[in-house]
Amino acid sequence: MTARLIDGRAVAAALRARVADGAARLRARDGVAAGLAAVLVGDDPASQLYVRSKRRACDEVGVASFEHRLPADSGIAAVLDLVARLNSDERVDGILVQLPLPQGIETRRIMAALDPAKDVDGFHPLNVGRLWGGEPALVPCTPQGILMLLKRVHPEGIAGRHAVVLGRSAIVGRPVAALLLAADCTLTMIHSRSRDAAALCRGGDIVVAATGRPEMVKADWIKPGATVIDVGISRIPGADSETRLAGDVDYAAVSRIAGAITPVPGGVGPMTIACLLRNTLAAAAARRGLADPVPIED
Ligand code: GUN
Repeated sequence: MTARLIDGRAVAAALRARVADGAARLRARDGVAAGLAAVLVGDDPASQLYVRSKRRACDEVGVASFEHRLPADSGIAAVLDLVARLNSDERVDGILVQLPLPQGIETRRIMAALDPAKDVDGFHPLNVGRLWGGEPALVPCTPQGILMLLKRVHPEGIAGRHAVVLGRSAIVGRPVAALLLAADCTLTMIHSRSRDAAALCRGGDIVVAATGRPEMVKADWIKPGATVIDVGISRIPGADSETRLAGDVDYAAVSRIAGAITPVPGGVGPMTIACLLRNTLAAAAARRGLADPVPIED
């Protein structure tokens, strides 16, 4: 059996088109020009690339974007000061502080300083609590994108399915677990201290791999017919001293066992940016007491 390919690029393109419509409607009907501010501290090349692609995506859907760069050796006070200015800037509806931050700048303190109403990453403690409490406001983008992809594969819903999440990061593992629980899945979390990860993983009807360890999930970790979502993206040595992109899943082998699988690239990645744009519109509307222009349920 060969797994069905889950085309994240196509699902993300459809969402971006809805965001573009929503942004145009907000502008024409309500006179609101939604805006996203991205904060980049330091010069990590991967982060620079992410921020550039977020900016391009904003341009494409008609969301204003503002970029703020600080040197890697900025103290925490400089970052907190910038966040405070963005919190009170009326043109800014969403604030994204690109992670990871340089050593010495505590992520926890920066996230807590964000206006929760502009926290389009859903990382402020209030938004984290709302998510786990079952009253989500702004939901982290990659997990939100993963649930949208699962909805495509399982239009009947995922209630009662056994979902296995590998990795317990604040950006993906923990929030996606909260969303899977809210969708009435039975949940197993696997992390670096778990015993016999392979056996636990084989119990999953749905497997979300978010460990950052290239090709860690092998074919014998997967129940035949399971839905596999690969969040990882790493550059590893390939043939002829070239490098190639790899996910957390051994794609060539697992795609012969799974029922459906996301490719890398072109699976989860495009969903993250599309959901960020969606959250920016949602924040712009909510701050003004307007209805969400692009509801997640649609
Ligand atoms: N770094 C990697 N993924 C993310 C994300 O979703 N949001 C932010 N702010 N930084 C990231």
